[in-house]
Amino acid sequence: MTSMTAQQKDLKQGFTFTKENLEKVNHYISKYPEGRQASAVIPLLDLGQRQNGGWVSQDVIEEVARLLSMPAIRVHEVAAFYTMFNLKPVGKYHIQLCGTTPCMLRGAEDLKSACMKKLNIGEGGVSADGKFSLMEVECLGACVNAPVVQINDDYFEDLTAESFTQIIDDLANGKDAKTGSATGRQCSAPALTLTTKPITETKIKTPPAKKATPEPLEEAPKKRTRKVKDAE
Ligand code: FES
Repeated sequence: MTSMTAQQKDLKQGFTFTKENLEKVNHYISKYPEGRQASAVIPLLDLGQRQNGGWVSQDVIEEVARLLSMPAIRVHEVAAFYTMFNLKPVGKYHIQLCGTTPCMLRGAEDLKSACMKKLNIGEGGVSADGKFSLMEVECLGACVNAPVVQINDDYFEDLTAESFTQIIDDLANGKDAKTGSATGRQCSAPALTLTTKPITETKIKTPPAKKATPEPLEEAPKKRTRKVKDAE
């Protein structure tokens, strides 16, 4: 297991993990063989982002790089690749609005306009009170319940501009917002009615039995008869 050395601990950084998170850091690192500790870069960045108010600062990158004995630029490359990592400060409620085709066809543009109007921010912006930030992202993997928005770790689905605005209001007022489908549909069940009847309601018609038609008999080979000359 690779854990922090005394020398690493002595290095003063602008960001350090809390004692509790440091235990998690060592746990993640211990999952990988000696010399492969860089494999823990994503969980460490995630931990650092959560501790750092939702974004990965340069100090977080350098601390993760130090703990994993990686060049900071390598850690930065990972953080810059995934949209789950924010490289600049975000709001307390970070809104990731899916703009990919299924969500776009189901009204994602309306949601975006309503959100920008409500919070008076542009895409990538943070509201004046620091409570909300908005980012458009690619498919969130819940297309059946399009349009979809992710706020921090929660999904909000089957939204309309009205239901989305209500969620923002609830969060702004310190209330719990209802996660999942805004229309109350169960998981990804059909939105309106069932598209096919359940098998129990379906009468299974069995085709009428065909009359067995006898196979034509093969003509029996004619017996060869040999004329036997009568014994003379
Ligand atoms: S397209 Fe929006 S969740 Fe997949």
